[in-house]
Amino acid sequence: MLFDSHAHYDDARFDEDRFELLDTMSANNVGLIMNACAAMSDIDTILEMCGRYPFFYGSVGVHPSDCAQLCEADMQTLAKAAENPKIKAIGEIGLDYYYDDVPRDLQKKWFARQLELAKELKLPVIVHDRDAHQDTVDILKNSGAAEVGGVLHCFSGSVEMARQVLDLGFYIAFGGTLTFKNARKAVEAAEFVPLDRILLETDSPYLAPVPERGKRNNSILMRYVAEKLAEIKGVSVEKIEDITFNNAKKCFGIE
Ligand code: NI
Repeated sequence: MLFDSHAHYDDARFDEDRFELLDTMSANNVGLIMNACAAMSDIDTILEMCGRYPFFYGSVGVHPSDCAQLCEADMQTLAKAAENPKIKAIGEIGLDYYYDDVPRDLQKKWFARQLELAKELKLPVIVHDRDAHQDTVDILKNSGAAEVGGVLHCFSGSVEMARQVLDLGFYIAFGGTLTFKNARKAVEAAEFVPLDRILLETDSPYLAPVPERGKRNNSILMRYVAEKLAEIKGVSVEKIEDITFNNAKKCFGIE
């Protein structure tokens, strides 16, 4: 079975058929889902889905592109939401220098502040890094994030960055981009990272894998990513499913 370690079923692109779609997961080999929170406004929908489905877990936290308006009171709201036993991580938090739509000093400030929150709450973190590799590693190191660990989602860094992140005790997640034609860098990283430190993800509704690239993504399509990773690692798809499923459970502290 598959564990989708990063999806956004709170996204408006699922408003039409969110529950109909989630009802089909178990029959399609999707055993567990971690829904990553991006904005304060996502929290209620995430808690609703967590309450409805035993296989559904969530994180709470604010994405770098959504952090411009954050204030200290929001940290209390996140902490309160994290009291729900189905909330298993703080995220997604990090840095995005690709869109660069929020001043970098603000992104860094709220990344560091939410890492503090994760340590206070003893929860692992889900980290977003786009075109901000060195600053992401530096902040993880300087903030003592190794204390809680977590996952670098949709990994796009180099082998050298993977090495540094693994040294901090983090897992590394690969998704649809691994199947893309120009995926050389991601494939190199996936070759390097030991299987017991890899998670699979979709980032649904984004980043649908080949051959569904460009369409709305969902956790069922993650089998194409599992097949690609099996090919890269030279093992069976079943082995990939088993190991990454258990890795994600360990990462998020799910029994
Ligand atoms: Ni995401």
